[in-house]
Amino acid sequence: MTITDDAVVYYDPYDLDIAADPWPTFARLREEAPLYHNERYRFWAISRHTDVEKAIANWQTFSNSRSDILELVNSDFDMPKGVMMFEDPPVHTMLRGLMSRVFTPRRMAEIEDQIRRFCVNCLDPHVGSDGFDIVAELASMMPMRVIGMLLGIPESDQIAVRDANDANLRTKPGAPMKVAKADRIADGSIYADYVEWRSRNPSDDLMTALLTMEFDDENGVTRKLDRKEILHYTQVVAGAGNETTGRLIGWLAKVLAEHPDQRRQVYQDRSLLTRTVDETLRFEPTGPHLARYAVKDFQMYGTTVPAGSAILLLVGAANRDPRRYTDPELFDIHRDSISHLAFGKGVHYCLGANLARLEGRVALDELLNRWPEWGIDYDSAVPAPTSTVRGWERLRIVLP
Ligand code: HEM
Repeated sequence: MTITDDAVVYYDPYDLDIAADPWPTFARLREEAPLYHNERYRFWAISRHTDVEKAIANWQTFSNSRSDILELVNSDFDMPKGVMMFEDPPVHTMLRGLMSRVFTPRRMAEIEDQIRRFCVNCLDPHVGSDGFDIVAELASMMPMRVIGMLLGIPESDQIAVRDANDANLRTKPGAPMKVAKADRIADGSIYADYVEWRSRNPSDDLMTALLTMEFDDENGVTRKLDRKEILHYTQVVAGAGNETTGRLIGWLAKVLAEHPDQRRQVYQDRSLLTRTVDETLRFEPTGPHLARYAVKDFQMYGTTVPAGSAILLLVGAANRDPRRYTDPELFDIHRDSISHLAFGKGVHYCLGANLARLEGRVALDELLNRWPEWGIDYDSAVPAPTSTVRGWERLRIVLP
């Protein structure tokens, strides 16, 4: 329930009314409370583009050491060690360097044909129908399949793995995520059988690269990753790239249905596809905020925020800041520079950004190949129940 006192702006990431349409609240936060404090859920929020951008880059103050999820930052647990997203430099630099060695642009580009084939198989059965749920039929499956393709996970295991992952992020509508045990956050145990199998059946995939690569660890010892570390890396990639990308595909369908002129332009000129994906991420970022832990006091707008505080960086608010963008409330694929903070920035900048763009581009391309036009069945649309990712759980597109 929203606590309303119209004289004072209120925000929390669990409020379903705000989540349904956060833009007026984000606008008020930027104007009236650019440094906002929520006592009930114990966080501070930063909303102006320039402030969010600076804070993301300043890991010396705004640390990832208690994760980037508010519930975890505020939990009583110590975070597990060695989780890339939960570390600051220098440990983060070493972990990310390792990941970048196997997560190469070449590997990602190589699977484009497979991604397209998967899309075609999902969409072709609906040709001639009067509509379908794009989340169930494409968006909720494609990212996991893509990660499965990269990792070499057999198709038969992929859906079970996705469901286990998504269950980790699920929240009861209107409530914070429950954190049960810190060491289960990224233990990757659901991949254990697969990793064993792959170690006996090496192939040309990312998992085999993880199993065989050698590196110098923090003690100067040259070694391979152990099983526990491999499971963890797998979990991080799968967790980070699954729901975020799935929600992007839902937003692409919805936003373009609501902007038919621009959809027509993309239909006619497919070189606009990547711009369209990025403008959609600016306009409807699938992760509307990132949490940080203040490791030292900082000053902002005349207030000193004490070390130990949880900070929410409101990427969604920043992406529509009129100080940064002309007509930010307009969806415009022809903007001069389509840059946004939906993939973060600085040392933790999304490692899968180009893969997510590729998936969005291929999904939209294949939709347009079959249907130049579609509408949305708003009556049956259901928002997704997570506090960290914003998007659609069910979104039926209506075909002419
Ligand atoms: C639309 C889709 C996506 C969005 C909006 C997104 C967003 C983000 C953001 C905001 C961060 C930074 C987190 C922080 O600063 O704390 C991040 C990090 C990361 N993302 Fe993505 N992501 C997407 C897709 C993917 C995909 C497809 C993958 C891989 C398969 C992926 C893998 C990662 C990894 C490994 C990190 C951690 C990087 C680090 O800590 O250095 N993401 N992502």
